[in-house]
Amino acid sequence: NKGKHRHFMEKEIYEQPEAIGHVLAHYVNLIENCADPVPSFDFASIPSLAISACGTAYLAGLIGKYWFERYARLPVEIDVASEFRYREIPLSPQSAALFISQSGETADTLASLRYCKKLGLKIGAVVNSAESSIAREADAVFPILAGPEIGVASTKAFTCQLAVLAALAISAARTRGTVTENEVQALVRNLAGMPRIMGEVLNSIQPKIELLARELSRYRDVLYLGRGTSFPLAMEGALKLKEISYIHAEGYAAGELKHGPIALIDKDMPVIVIAPFDRFFNKTVSNMEEVAARGGRVILVTDEKGATASKLDTMNTIVLPAVDEIIAPMIFSLPIQLLAYHTAVFMGTDVDQPRNLAKSVTVE
Ligand code: M6R
Repeated sequence: NKGKHRHFMEKEIYEQPEAIGHVLAHYVNLIENCADPVPSFDFASIPSLAISACGTAYLAGLIGKYWFERYARLPVEIDVASEFRYREIPLSPQSAALFISQSGETADTLASLRYCKKLGLKIGAVVNSAESSIAREADAVFPILAGPEIGVASTKAFTCQLAVLAALAISAARTRGTVTENEVQALVRNLAGMPRIMGEVLNSIQPKIELLARELSRYRDVLYLGRGTSFPLAMEGALKLKEISYIHAEGYAAGELKHGPIALIDKDMPVIVIAPFDRFFNKTVSNMEEVAARGGRVILVTDEKGATASKLDTMNTIVLPAVDEIIAPMIFSLPIQLLAYHTAVFMGTDVDQPRNLAKSVTVE
């Protein structure tokens, strides 16, 4: 039942504040009470963590890598499952591995899990479906509690995966002694504030995004740029746009612009720059200037501080509330998802069932 929404995807985008609230109620309470989310998964003693997944779940894992490395000082090996399973990665049996999958049935992710299991690694599953094959074969299950996701384009599963990974990274940081108790409390407070901020953003940005989407639907190619955790988000934005609107889109690390994609810049390829006012902001702004100097059109997705700091004349600027770095990827997902959604609606595509795609990919 789509309720008042035109598509399941739209409904699922708007369900995120509530869904994230459920995830946090589950995981953050555990962190606050100093309990491990799953006692059998001992982050304190592992030398490294392997993460594998496909598509959007992989991009969530990539953001998770930044968190595990930064907060828990835990080295992370991550790859798309279709490569991971064949790479013959020398993994230590003392390590642990996380497999992220909404459906819990993705063939390559399941094969990667079995590969790690054979090597003796401790297996964790970050899944939406607790009854799935990936959940069944794992030693520890971390449910994302998103509720059913019907739209082929993953939205609420992505942000719920991120919320679980953030909670796990904080919990790992605490057990590994790499953050102070005050830092843990600050991170937890920021996570806890997320549902309210998500609700406010969803209530305020739609009219602007719709106007922008109408414009975007006239283009054939779009480039997304970001740094730090905004880099995987840039790839997620591009994936979302291409899968439902069929507009060609690429996501790049902003610093890679000069190493190739800058050759493509002209007025016919808008560049969506995801740049919260974080420690990378000035660097990303200089990439934006390089785009503008070559006649490129910039759509800046930033926060209030970033909008004030940037002097650049953009094609459009989406302004979000300024939030802590740990929740920025979830908050910045919202305009990215809505932009892809409304662009697809303008293009008249089958948003919930885009051509050639299946919700669950059970063949390799
Ligand atoms: O069920 P899974 O999370 O394992 O699915 C992985 C990908 O197939 C999935 O995220 C896909 O990329 C989405 N359609 C993206 O929106």
